[in-house]
Amino acid sequence: MGILGSYSSSPFWVFCLFVLLGFVLNAAVLCDGGKTSSFVRKIEKTVDMPIDSDVFQVPPGFNAPQQVHITQGDQVGKAVIVSWVTPNEAGSNTVLYWSENSKDKNKAEGKVYTYKFYNYTSGYIHHCTIRNLEFNTKYYYEVGIGQSERQFWFTTPPEIGPDVPYTFGLIGDLGQSFDSNSTLTHYELNPQKGQAVLFVGDLSYADNYPNHDNVRWDTWGRFIERSAAYQPWIWTAGNHEIDYAPEIGEKKPFKPYTHRYHVPYRASDSSEPFWYSIKRASAHIIVLASYSAYGKYTPQYKWLEQELPKVNRSETPWLIVLMHSPWYNSYNYHYMEGESMRVMYEPWFVQYKVDVVFAGHVHAYERSERVSNVAYNIVNGMCKPVSDQNAPVYITIGDGGNLEGLATNMTEPQPDYSAYREASFGHAIFDIKNRTHAYYNWHRNQDGYPVEADSFWFFNRYWHQIDDSTTTSHL
Ligand SMILES: *[C@@H]1O[C@H](CO)[C@@H](O)[C@H](O)[C@H]1NC(C)=O
Ligand SMILES: *[C@@H]1O[C@H](CO)[C@@H](O)[C@H](O)[C@H]1NC(C)=O
Ligand SMILES: *[C@@H]1O[C@H](CO)[C@@H](O)[C@H](O)[C@H]1NC(C)=O
Ligand SMILES: *[C@@H]1O[C@H](CO)[C@@H](O)[C@H](O)[C@H]1NC(C)=O
Ligand SMILES: *[C@@H]1O[C@H](CO)[C@@H](O)[C@H](O)[C@H]1NC(C)=O
Ligand SMILES: [Fe+2]
Repeated sequence: MGILGSYSSSPFWVFCLFVLLGFVLNAAVLCDGGKTSSFVRKIEKTVDMPIDSDVFQVPPGFNAPQQVHITQGDQVGKAVIVSWVTPNEAGSNTVLYWSENSKDKNKAEGKVYTYKFYNYTSGYIHHCTIRNLEFNTKYYYEVGIGQSERQFWFTTPPEIGPDVPYTFGLIGDLGQSFDSNSTLTHYELNPQKGQAVLFVGDLSYADNYPNHDNVRWDTWGRFIERSAAYQPWIWTAGNHEIDYAPEIGEKKPFKPYTHRYHVPYRASDSSEPFWYSIKRASAHIIVLASYSAYGKYTPQYKWLEQELPKVNRSETPWLIVLMHSPWYNSYNYHYMEGESMRVMYEPWFVQYKVDVVFAGHVHAYERSERVSNVAYNIVNGMCKPVSDQNAPVYITIGDGGNLEGLATNMTEPQPDYSAYREASFGHAIFDIKNRTHAYYNWHRNQDGYPVEADSFWFFNRYWHQIDDSTTTSHL
C-alpha cells in the first residue's frame, strides 16, 4: 500500500471523495452543449424525382454525351479529368479544349470503359485527363466529337499559395429526390458562388433500388451535370458507393462508383482511389475512406502517415479532411460508427492541426467545437472529449436530401462538444479569405438563397491559432 492506501483509510478522505464525485456527476448532468435549432422543417416524405423528370432528360442527338462531370486531375490544379457517357456506341474519346484567350484548339485523348452489374450493362464511360493547363484561366471544352458535340467550360484554380482566396461548396448524401434538386439549386444560386464542390460521399443511392438498379446511377449523372460539368466535384466514397451485393453475384465492391468517378489518387502516391489528396489554391485537402481498411499497417494508414508530414502550411495553410462517416455525431443515427477510425487517426489530426473535418452519412447538419479525445489509454478513464485548440472543427453535412429522409432523432442532452445541430436539408460554403481567416456558413433549403442558418469564422490552426469558439463551452 502506498500513499493512496493510507489516505483511503481516513474517513475524511472518503468524505472528500464523495463530495468530489457528487460534483463531477452533477456537472455531467447539468452540462449542455451548444444550440439545437428549433427550426420547424417540412414534414412531407422525401421522394425521388420520377425517371421522366426534366433533370434526367437525355440530351438530343445521336449518341450525345451525357453525365458530363469534371474533377481535379493532378495534385496542384493544372489538370482536369473530364468524364462523360455515350449511350449507343463508344464514339470519340477526344476532348477538344481551348482557353478563352486563344482560338487554338487542343486535343486530349481519353479512355472508354464499360461494366456489367447483375443484368445492367453500362453505357460507354469516358475519362480523359487534360494536362498542363494555365492557372486561373477559363477553358471551353467539347465532347462527342464528330457526332453530337456538346460544349462546356470550367475555370482553373489560381496557383497554390498561402493567401489565395478560394470558395468551396460542401454537399453530402445528395441522392436524387426533389429535396436533392432543391439543395443543388440553392448551392448554384448562392450568391457566394462556390468554385468547386467538396462532396462527402453517398452519391446516387441507386443501391436502394431493386438489384441496385444502375439506371439510377445514370439519372444521377444527368442530374448533377448542370453543376459538375462546369466546376470540379471532389469525390469521397460513402457506404452507398460500396454496392457490394454478393446475392446477385457482385463480389467486388465499389464497381459502379470506380467506373464512373475517377479521382487523381496516383498523383498523391495513393494506391487506391478511395483515399488521396489534392492541393487547390490555399488548401490541402485529404480525402479518407471510411469503408476501406484503416487499421495499423493497412495501405490507407501507411499513406496517411506519410501524407500528413508532407502538408506544407506555408504553401497551403488550410488543412481540410473529407470522410464519409463522422467521428463526432450526436444524432441517434450511425451513432459511434466513426469511432474506430477516430481512435486510429485522431491523435494525428491534433498533432498536425487539421483545420476542419467534413463528413456526411448522417442526414442532418451538425458543427462541433474544437475538441479532441485522445487521452484515453484503456485504464485511465479519460475518455471524454475535451476542448482542444489544436483540434479541428467537425462538421456533418450529410443533409443533401436523399430519399432516406432526415435524421431527426438526436441524443439528449446535446453533448457539450456539439456547437450547433439541426435536422434540415442544405449545403455549406467554406470561403477562404487568406492564410488566417475563412468564413463558413450553412444554408437550409427552406430559406432564400443568401440566408445563413449557421455561420462561423475559422481562424487557421497554423497561422492564427486563437480561440474561435462561438459558444461558451463547458468543456
Ligand atoms: C433486370 O431484372 C429485373 C428483375 O429481375 C427486371 O425488372 C429488369 O427489367 C431487368 N433489366 C434489364 C435491363 O434486363
Ligand atoms: C429541379 O430544379 C431546377 C432548378 O431549380 C428546376 O428547373 C427543375 O424544374 C427542377 N426539377 C424537378 C423535377 O424538381
Ligand atoms: C514549403 O513551402 C514554402 C513556400 O512555397 C517553401 O519555401 C518551402 O521550402 C517548403 N517547405 C518544404 C519543407 O518543402
Ligand atoms: C430515438 O433513438 C433512441 C435511441 O436509438 C430510441 O430509443 C428512441 O425510441 C428514438 N425515438 C424516436 C422518436 O424514434
Ligand atoms: C485576412 O482576412 C480577414 C477577413 O477578411 C481580414 O480581417 C484580415 O485583415 C486579413 N488578413 C490580412 C493579412 O490581410
Ligand atoms: Fe452514408
